[in-house]
Amino acid sequence: MRILFVGDIVGSCGRRCVRELVPELRSRLAADVVVANAENAAAGLGVTERTARELFDAGCDVLTLGNHAFRRPESYDFLDSEERIVRPANFPRGSPGRGHAVVAVGEERLAVLNLCGTVFLEAARSPFAEVDSLIAQLRDQGVRHLLVDFHAEATSEKVAFGWYVDGRVSACLGTHTHVQTADERVLPAGTAYITDVGMTGGRGGVIGVRREPALERFLRMTYARFEPTDEDPWLHGVLVETKGDGRARSIERVAAPLAT
Ligand SMILES: [Fe+2]
Ligand SMILES: [Fe+2]
Repeated sequence: MRILFVGDIVGSCGRRCVRELVPELRSRLAADVVVANAENAAAGLGVTERTARELFDAGCDVLTLGNHAFRRPESYDFLDSEERIVRPANFPRGSPGRGHAVVAVGEERLAVLNLCGTVFLEAARSPFAEVDSLIAQLRDQGVRHLLVDFHAEATSEKVAFGWYVDGRVSACLGTHTHVQTADERVLPAGTAYITDVGMTGGRGGVIGVRREPALERFLRMTYARFEPTDEDPWLHGVLVETKGDGRARSIERVAAPLAT
């Protein structure tokens, strides 16, 4: 199974990258399924039904979220009803949406899990204990291909989590920090790993937002409203190939500029 995973899509610029690049990448990379992180899709914060539908229409099969999952109260009913979008599984039980999705990919099934780290981020339960129970549940259902979007801030927590799930999931892909790391590899027991897949949006800003307000906060400590930038749009992600038993064969970085 060839899985294209697209990193955090930021605002209208990120959505345009997806619309214009995903169909071409999907065919050039022979991807069977496309999973994308949409936690910043709606003007940089959260996702709405409209922006999610735009991403599904552009060829995304499953959307993941992160710490900004609940920034749009108007989307809560949609998160409850749309089975192809997942928020962190270690958020409180009974909160909107679900923590994993299982989709058909040809003859196979792929489970997409979203988990949030707890170093500099908040979650209701440890992602380590949570992934154990989800893996057991999915194995009981006979699902062999599992992809984890591990949404976390600290590289140490991400690296540790990768080792923790090695051999038990097909891929453990880091999101949230918005800068693609160069440490992609298949770990010894067969899990494709990268600390961060990078973001999809304007590279001419500060992790997706216009650089002037970001700089103003750093330089003057005054409040300046963040908004997504349109400058220098790129799509970042990875392509993971798995074998029939669910173990990873390869992982490669994807970095594609949008011709403007
Ligand atoms: Fe993000
Ligand atoms: Fe995030």
